[in-house]
Amino acid sequence: MCGIVGYIGFREAWPIVLKGLKRLEYRGYDSAGIALMNNTGQHIYKKAGKVAVLEEFAAAQDKSGTIGIGHTRWATHGAPSDRNSHPHTSNNHKLSIIHNGIIENYATLKEELIERGHEFKSDTDTEVLIHLVEEIQKIEQIDLMEAVRLALQEVSGAYAIVIMDQDNPDRLIAARKGSPMVIGVGAGEYFIASDATPIIEYTKNVIYLKDGEIALITKNDLLIKQLDNVVQTPLIQELELKLEMLEKGGFDHFMLKEIYEQPRSIKDCMRGRIYPQEGKVQLGGIKEFAEKLKNIDRIIIVACGTSWHAGLVGEYLIEEYARIPVEVEYASEFRYRNPIITEKDVVIAISQSGETADTMAAIEMAKERGATIFGICNVAGASIPRLTDAGVYTHAGPEIGVASTKAFTAQVTVLTLMAFYMAQQKGTITTSKLIELLTELDHIPEKVELALESNDLIKEVSEKIKDSTNCLFLGRGTGFPVALEGALKLKEISYIHAEGYPAAEMKHGPIALITEEMPVVFIATQNSSYEKVISNIQEVKARKGKVIAIVTAGDTEVKKMADYCIEIPDANEAFLPLLATIPLQLLSYHIAVMRGCNVDQPRNLAKSVTVE
Ligand code: M6R
Repeated sequence: MCGIVGYIGFREAWPIVLKGLKRLEYRGYDSAGIALMNNTGQHIYKKAGKVAVLEEFAAAQDKSGTIGIGHTRWATHGAPSDRNSHPHTSNNHKLSIIHNGIIENYATLKEELIERGHEFKSDTDTEVLIHLVEEIQKIEQIDLMEAVRLALQEVSGAYAIVIMDQDNPDRLIAARKGSPMVIGVGAGEYFIASDATPIIEYTKNVIYLKDGEIALITKNDLLIKQLDNVVQTPLIQELELKLEMLEKGGFDHFMLKEIYEQPRSIKDCMRGRIYPQEGKVQLGGIKEFAEKLKNIDRIIIVACGTSWHAGLVGEYLIEEYARIPVEVEYASEFRYRNPIITEKDVVIAISQSGETADTMAAIEMAKERGATIFGICNVAGASIPRLTDAGVYTHAGPEIGVASTKAFTAQVTVLTLMAFYMAQQKGTITTSKLIELLTELDHIPEKVELALESNDLIKEVSEKIKDSTNCLFLGRGTGFPVALEGALKLKEISYIHAEGYPAAEMKHGPIALITEEMPVVFIATQNSSYEKVISNIQEVKARKGKVIAIVTAGDTEVKKMADYCIEIPDANEAFLPLLATIPLQLLSYHIAVMRGCNVDQPRNLAKSVTVE
């Protein structure tokens, strides 16, 4: 959470930092601030609210300066307010800091600093860190980089920070541990950001600062050290990101654009990995472990939120095709249990952002206990792919909308490929069956295209149920994780309370909620549980519930009972999640728009949850 941007060079810093913050707003959007350095000193502008509020606030003010740092916040310590917005300053107001992460021992440090005469202007953990740097510099009489290095050895927690100093107006100090940071390398200029999106239009050359590294950046030079003072040789990498990927491309919202990108993103995810005519799957990222996969005892999938739902789909598919037992765990619970993990286990960590704190902690724990760790991640170069032994990228492209859409279907696609790959390795599937499945999978992007054609009908249905206060999503088999995902989408962007349940579980509790007012969304496609789902629909209708059913094209049975039916193309049960999810994404999108909600930046949420 929180986005940070820094610039040092020959251009005006304000527009670069401001634009960068707008790109990073998906990481947090409750307040924003920028500090600039010019020949009259350091100037700080900060405001509660979105980056646009800050822009308006500073519109008429002098914003000159070729060095600047900026921050968009997702509050942890201290409510969203002007005073708690970053940048924060030291006691003497000469140093300013922006920070993404949490300083866990800030309370003890703060007490000590107060005893030494420091006065605090905010309720944040971040302000404590910059006071500590100032105090160390004062006591030790050392330069800023050294003071920051020593201060960071005293703090526990996670951070990506950038510090600016009025007494050294030609430099920035940056450091990271547990929170991401990218440095863009230009000619006579450097850019710093939480991810590459604020950098891409200026340079393609970037350095991913590693955990425990600290950088001294001037406009012509960069020095990177580890916290133990060992100098590092930076590795400059070329970005694959393209600017147009970060724009709305004519859609009203990023979420809608990302929903419509799915035929393409699913195709990109499969590209070079499936060979339908030969009945073969190739996953270069995990091929080193191909032999090991023949003898593993168990797979544990760890993830959070939507990625956890993708994991549940993976459980069905891996068990069905590769016959390996799978457990799917919330990373946040798994890391604090004392789970039994052995060297014969493979842990698959799923994360769109590759930065989710709980998922990272779960990986570290499983690693210590000897498991082999695979990652499924969307953001290249993020922390999770660096922590894992091997992995498969989803190649969905940047996902800007906070509600995950194309990342989910790409994760499900990778898990489908993994299930087939493991089955191929273990010999639990015949080549002819793989030919049949892969041939169909190859055409799934076209079927997703067809599923998107129901958009107008889905809009009409949305109009009918947009004022509901509760909603139930029910499905069986792989329809169950799809139901969970549908409910999460609706609640996170429209603020309607929604629950996902296995359809058969309805009669063990949720059925009590059903009234005429209650929309119940069923995944009622023609598959092995079709008849059972029909019985569940009847149970809801008998209690006057309003049924919205996702059905297979040409269905006649469910149409007799449901209030509204949305068709998706017929497909093998294994591919149902890739299709049935589409109308649910559109349903939540239209309802949220009709309710006037901020679809791309729902309240209280952030795209990348880097705090536990
Ligand atoms: O980046 P990750 O996939 O690790 O993120 C996990 C969750 O925070 C994320 O899926 C969240 O639930 C989304 N907002 C759902 O749309």
